[in-house]
Amino acid sequence: MLTLSRAARLVGASRVALQLKIRSGELPSFDGMVSAEDLLRFYPDIRLEEDGGFEQVREIKERAFGRRVRERLLPSQEILSQRLYEQSTELADLRAHLQRYHAMMEAVRGRIRAQEAQPGMAALGDFLDAQLADILGSAAPNALDVMDDMLRVMSAHVTLRPSGHDFFVEGADTLLEAILKAGLAVNYGCSNGNCGLCKARVVSGEVRKLRPHDYVLSEAEKNQGYTLLCCHAAVSDLVVEALETGSAGDIPPQQIVARVKALQPLGEDMRLLHLQTPRNNRLRFLAGQSATLTAGEASAQLPIASCPCDDRNLHFHVARDAKDDFARQVFEALRAGDPVTVYGPWGEFVLRADSPRPILFVASEAGFAPIKGLVEHAMSLDRAELLHLYWHSTRPAGHYLANLCRSWAGALDNFRYTAVTEGGAEALVARMAREHDDLAAFDLYLAGPQGFVEDASKALARQGFPAAQLSATAT
Ligand code: FES
Repeated sequence: MLTLSRAARLVGASRVALQLKIRSGELPSFDGMVSAEDLLRFYPDIRLEEDGGFEQVREIKERAFGRRVRERLLPSQEILSQRLYEQSTELADLRAHLQRYHAMMEAVRGRIRAQEAQPGMAALGDFLDAQLADILGSAAPNALDVMDDMLRVMSAHVTLRPSGHDFFVEGADTLLEAILKAGLAVNYGCSNGNCGLCKARVVSGEVRKLRPHDYVLSEAEKNQGYTLLCCHAAVSDLVVEALETGSAGDIPPQQIVARVKALQPLGEDMRLLHLQTPRNNRLRFLAGQSATLTAGEASAQLPIASCPCDDRNLHFHVARDAKDDFARQVFEALRAGDPVTVYGPWGEFVLRADSPRPILFVASEAGFAPIKGLVEHAMSLDRAELLHLYWHSTRPAGHYLANLCRSWAGALDNFRYTAVTEGGAEALVARMAREHDDLAAFDLYLAGPQGFVEDASKALARQGFPAAQLSATAT
């Protein structure tokens, strides 16, 4: 039996897609687990030589996310050898068991053959021979079992308590890096072993220190299993007790000097400012929040157009504006490698991470920036049954990342994208109500120019949309 997360990774589907199949009765499940046999019946095309279907989908997702090709690092040599040692021990144990069973079967077979003259014994002997021949003849390994074994060597599965959220730790990632990539938010500060804020208790499983840390855990804490998430990696599957935060108010403002990684035109009048924070000082924020950027003498507060799940990368969409000093810096002066001070995060426009509802994202013009962060966060969490993005822009080049939105829709079964090119906020709300007759069943995130946000909020209220399920921000 496989947990849903592991099954999803093995067959290259999202967890939500499997949940939908279970709910519709197509895929049987027992206590939230699915059997490898049922999974293979459903996904018969799993091939070992394809290096695992999950790899393919993950790559598509990462391309769709617009991430740089991440270094594909293996776990450290020590972690790999420890995992291999544990699998070899398990295998040796199984071999010993099999040999004992084999010897027992041979003994039983000998006794039956010795008493063949007794009634029924000859038939029993023939039956036993046929069964043994059958077992020996069907030696082909189950593809999912083999892939699952490989997955156990390459990554570790971690469950957080008390939330029950789970994720995989891959490559040379620390536990903190893996938590952030999974779209989860835990308490942390420096991310390099100084502050102790990422302290968490390992309830079961084994961790290994990846880097030295100045923060000293007391003997009592060590005995209770406490560890620093930012300095340790998972050797085996883990259960970890850690407090998760979903609220923007839990995050203190930080000031970090980041560097320009790239400046990329997004059409004529928009530019992607891609910053990277230092390895040992990342910005702690929630997707959808803003930050104040300062380059030279110019400052601006801008929505962060990426998600904490995107490692140390921070994206901002900067519109050309001759009267705005910061925009002029971005279009005329900034170069790769230049320092930019990031101060923040600000704002409460964040995902209701534990809400079970499907999600509508509504962006107007450059309101797409914070919405993009939320979409990426929702994809990393992989919990909502449906994500539908409406991007409203009546300007010819207004949908400046339409290809990205289309690639999300192509990569994920539960993602839809609608580019809206005409009408105002009211017409858009009416269209959503036509296309989703259960509109009130959604959470809705709305970002755009002040006037659009106000008009859309009023139109939603007239449609009877529950105010508690609406989050809005003016950009
Ligand atoms: S985040 Fe500061 S010690 Fe881990």
